[in-house]
Amino acid sequence: MEPREMPVAVFDSGLGGVSVLRELRKVMPNEDFFYFGDSLNAPYGTKSPEEVRALTIAHTKDFLAMGVKGVVIACNTATSAAVRKLRQMYPQVPLVGIEPAVKPAVEAYPKGRILVMATPVTIREEKLRHLIERYGGEAQVIPLACPGLMDFVEAGNIDSPEIYGFLRDLLYPYVGNVDGVVLGCTHYPFVRRAIEDILGPRTEIFDGGVGTAKEMKRRLAAADLLCKNTQKEGTIRFENSNKSQEKEALFYRLLKYDQKQHPTLQ
Ligand code: DGL
Repeated sequence: MEPREMPVAVFDSGLGGVSVLRELRKVMPNEDFFYFGDSLNAPYGTKSPEEVRALTIAHTKDFLAMGVKGVVIACNTATSAAVRKLRQMYPQVPLVGIEPAVKPAVEAYPKGRILVMATPVTIREEKLRHLIERYGGEAQVIPLACPGLMDFVEAGNIDSPEIYGFLRDLLYPYVGNVDGVVLGCTHYPFVRRAIEDILGPRTEIFDGGVGTAKEMKRRLAAADLLCKNTQKEGTIRFENSNKSQEKEALFYRLLKYDQKQHPTLQ
C-alpha cells in the first residue's frame, strides 16, 4: 500500500484515547485511523513504568509491522514511560505522544493555581516534573494522582452518583481555590462534566488532546504523508486486547459522546 494511504495508529491503555481520536478526526477528516486499546492490561497508571514501557513498545512494533504511517500514543501514562525510547527506536516514523496541557494552563493563569489530574505513573515520572520546571513559571502547579478514576470510564460509568461521589472526595480540597485543571489522562475528558460540576464554573479545564492532534497533522504534513484525497471520508478500525463486545459498543458510544451538551451516554 502507498504510505499516504495507510492508516494512523492511535493507542491507549483502553478507551481513553478515544478523546484524542475525536480531535484527530476533526483536524484530519480524510485520514483512516486504527484504534487499539489495551483494556486487557489496563490500567497502566498503577503499573510500574517498566511494565508500561514494555507493553507500549510491543504494541507499537505490531502497528508498524501491520503497516501504519504514524503512531499517536494517546495515553499520557504510556507517553511518559515510553515515548523517549520509541523516538530512539523509530526516528523516521511520525510518532506523537500526549502530555498534560500544563503550558496552555500556565499561559492562561500565569500566577494561578493549577491542578494536574493524572495517573500515579504520570505523576511520578520525571516527564511531568520537567514539564512543570519548564513551563510552570510563577504558577502554583499541583499534581494530583487519581488512581481508580479511569476505571469508571472503562466501565462506561461517567455520570452516575458513584462517579460524582468519587470525584467529590478527590476534589473537595480544591473547590473554589484552583483556576485551572489539567486533564492529564485521556480517560478524564469523559468525566469532564462531573469535574466541572464539582469545581464550579470559575475553574477552567485544559485537555491536551487538541494539541496532540494538531501536532500529528504537522508531523504527517512535514513527511508528506497526509492523504491527498480531500473528498474521502476517513474510516476507523477498532481493536482491543479485551475482545468483549461491550468494549466495542462503548468505543462507538464514546466516539459520539458530546461532553459539552449532555452528560449522559446514550
Ligand atoms: N488513558 C491513560 C492516560 O492517558 C491512562 C489510563 C490507565 O491508567 O491505564 O494516562
